[in-house]
Amino acid sequence: MPAIDRTRLTELLAAEQATYTDRHPRSRSLFEEGGNLFGRVPMTWMNKWTGGFPLYLDRAAGNRITDVDGHTYVDFALGDTGAMAGHSPRPTVEAVSRRVGELGGVTTMLPTQDAQWVGAELTRRFGMPLWSFTLSATDANRWALRLARLATGKPKVLVFAYCYHGSVDEAFALPGPDGKAESRPGNVAPPVALDLTTRAATWNDLASVERELAHGDVAAILTEPALTNIGIVLPEPGFLEGLRELASRHGALLMIDETHTFSVGWGGATRAWDLEPDVVVIGKSIGGGIPSGAYGITEQVATSVTRHTDSGDADIVDVGGVGGTLAGNALSTAAMRATLDAVLTEDAFAHMTQLATAFTEGVQRTLDELDVPWSITQLGARAEYRFTRPAPRSGEESAAAHDDEVDAYMHLAMCNRGILMTPFHNMALMCPDTTRGDVDRHTSTFREVRSPLRLSSPPARRGASCQAAGRDEATRRRRSPGDRRVASSRQLVARSGRC
Ligand SMILES: Cc1ncc(COP(=O)(O)O)c(C=O)c1O
Repeated sequence: MPAIDRTRLTELLAAEQATYTDRHPRSRSLFEEGGNLFGRVPMTWMNKWTGGFPLYLDRAAGNRITDVDGHTYVDFALGDTGAMAGHSPRPTVEAVSRRVGELGGVTTMLPTQDAQWVGAELTRRFGMPLWSFTLSATDANRWALRLARLATGKPKVLVFAYCYHGSVDEAFALPGPDGKAESRPGNVAPPVALDLTTRAATWNDLASVERELAHGDVAAILTEPALTNIGIVLPEPGFLEGLRELASRHGALLMIDETHTFSVGWGGATRAWDLEPDVVVIGKSIGGGIPSGAYGITEQVATSVTRHTDSGDADIVDVGGVGGTLAGNALSTAAMRATLDAVLTEDAFAHMTQLATAFTEGVQRTLDELDVPWSITQLGARAEYRFTRPAPRSGEESAAAHDDEVDAYMHLAMCNRGILMTPFHNMALMCPDTTRGDVDRHTSTFREVRSPLRLSSPPARRGASCQAAGRDEATRRRRSPGDRRVASSRQLVARSGRC
């Protein structure tokens, strides 16, 4: 199998960087003017985009984004799932406009009937009978974890290596060498040592889960039904059933975070794979772009919680640590109702999944034809390629396959050819507006940008003229041990340009 020509990669990355800079003078000057913003951007993650400075948004509709320099892109990033319904879907725009303009009362701390409709719809889709709303998936996870601790009387959360559930303190953990959870690289000032709050296990390894649960102190297993934040790592047959069984046996709740895996189908993986969680969390996409999130619980969990709230041990109607002033507001619930009713429908998921299958087949065909040792994994309406084959089985394996130079090149080359991939990895998501033509355009562009990386000469020659290109695999990977947001591609491009 031919490896990558790293000298050529460095040259190509520099050329793509030059093209990007030339094509985006307005974005560049706006970025330079942003000195009053921390990191020059509204939110520091926006520096994750490749190219030295982010594209500045002018407008977006459906699956198209136009930047301030007038370039239009096919958007497969879709706001890292926040825009899975497409940008400004008409039913959502109408419902939101009506609430803001005609009806008013975006934030009143009073309920609207829309929330009941959304709760009933989420029950139809995910099965949980009781729902509560938030403005982000992070908050849904945080608040549901508090309830899980209250319900079980246990202090810890079990998570999987290289999971991501938002900025949830407990979840930034890896299994340490002594079996104790330790902080993952880049974790910003954890409030306490991770082993005080967390037990960490390895995905697809039930023995590691059982070992951690055996301590008897885990309130909840918090997991996505497939890892999606370290590439996509699918569950092996029996793994999710095993988690359910182990959670029940050890008195822990099974908390399924569907924020990304909603792509599996209209009722997420929970419905498609017959999962039986105690808690479901979802966010990002369900408000069609308006900040929204939700968690659903079983009657049994609710009873275990209200036992404490009824007795006065815990407070969920004021400052007890569960809830937020703007959560469940009338705008957010109107947006969720319209998006679930008329945009992210069963038919839409069928269309999106069909396109993701075509996307996966197109990339796989190209990998086979070029004899590239990469893999692509589909998860309903999304697909992601990883720089290793076979597809990784765990977060650790997937992290080890990370290559931030290849990653930067692929993102930048795609962007220069009018295609946006999710900045955090090589994930592509379909929305109701995505077409077969968009998918085919990705396939041919993928071939065009991947082909020149093929090593045509013996590996011994590589790196002769460039220090950066001469790094060995270990050095190259050490810089970013697969951590989702550790190294910014901006820095990488700057570093790569040194040679
Ligand atoms: C699985 C999962 N849960 C929760 C979150 C947090 O979402 P948000 O940042 O919108 O709160 C993310 C974000 O990437 C996620 O991937």
